[in-house]
Amino acid sequence: MRAFAPLIVVVLPIAACSRGEAAQTADPASFDPIASVVMHPRCKNCHQDESPRQTDAAILHRPLVVRGKDGHGAPTQPCQTCHQATNTADGFVPGVATWELAPLSMLWEGRTKQQICEQMKDPARNGGRRTGEEIIEHMKADPLVLWAWTPGAGRTTPPLSHEKFVQALEAWVSAGMPCPKA
Ligand code: HEC
Ligand code: HEC
Repeated sequence: MRAFAPLIVVVLPIAACSRGEAAQTADPASFDPIASVVMHPRCKNCHQDESPRQTDAAILHRPLVVRGKDGHGAPTQPCQTCHQATNTADGFVPGVATWELAPLSMLWEGRTKQQICEQMKDPARNGGRRTGEEIIEHMKADPLVLWAWTPGAGRTTPPLSHEKFVQALEAWVSAGMPCPKA
């Protein structure tokens, strides 16, 4: 019995401390804060099947545009006809140089957060990313993702700041990327 006493003394403060640092949610490993960003219209409007969506109501893109062979639209009307390297001066037309629909394997429309979590971890569907760090890299640094926080024209932004989002991603990876139960 005696030998265990010091262990308890050491372990408890560490657990309490890492809880505090991970902030916000009761469970620092939770996918919930990540889902709240990923399922926001600024992200989900691009993670669609045949056509992107617009606005917080996720209406079909006007004019109707299609995925095309590689996510860049039909040859006659590629995304880059309208979407330039930056938002237009009035912010109305969003812009990032690599603007395109997410691949079909990364479709999120109509999926639950549990399904999105599972597919995000699956190298067969996430673009061949294998390690936690690779899986969250796009969300930490890709210009398409960063755009969601400077979308222009008074569009709403995801519920967490990008900094808090990155903290949530790192905490989730450290915890072994647990997904919510179905
Ligand atoms: C303009 C369209 C567009 C927007 C907006 C967008 N994405 Fe993506 N997303 C893509 C494309 C294209 C890919 C595939 C690129 C790749 O695999 O590198 C992708 C891939 C991904 C992936 C899969 C790769 C991985 O790292 O597992 C995740 C996750 C992701 N996006 C998250 C987000 C989040 C979160 C947001 C919003 C904050 C967002 N995306 C906004 C187009 C978009
Ligand atoms: C003819 C011009 C045009 C073409 C081509 C075009 N877009 Fe758009 N797109 C727009 C305009 C204008 C808006 C802003 C509309 C609004 O917010 O009401 C927009 C908005 C969007 C949004 C909404 C962003 C948000 O969250 O509110 C997405 C996503 C999008 N486009 C993706 C694409 C993709 C992917 C392609 C190519 C397959 C494409 N667009 C081709 C003009 C175009």
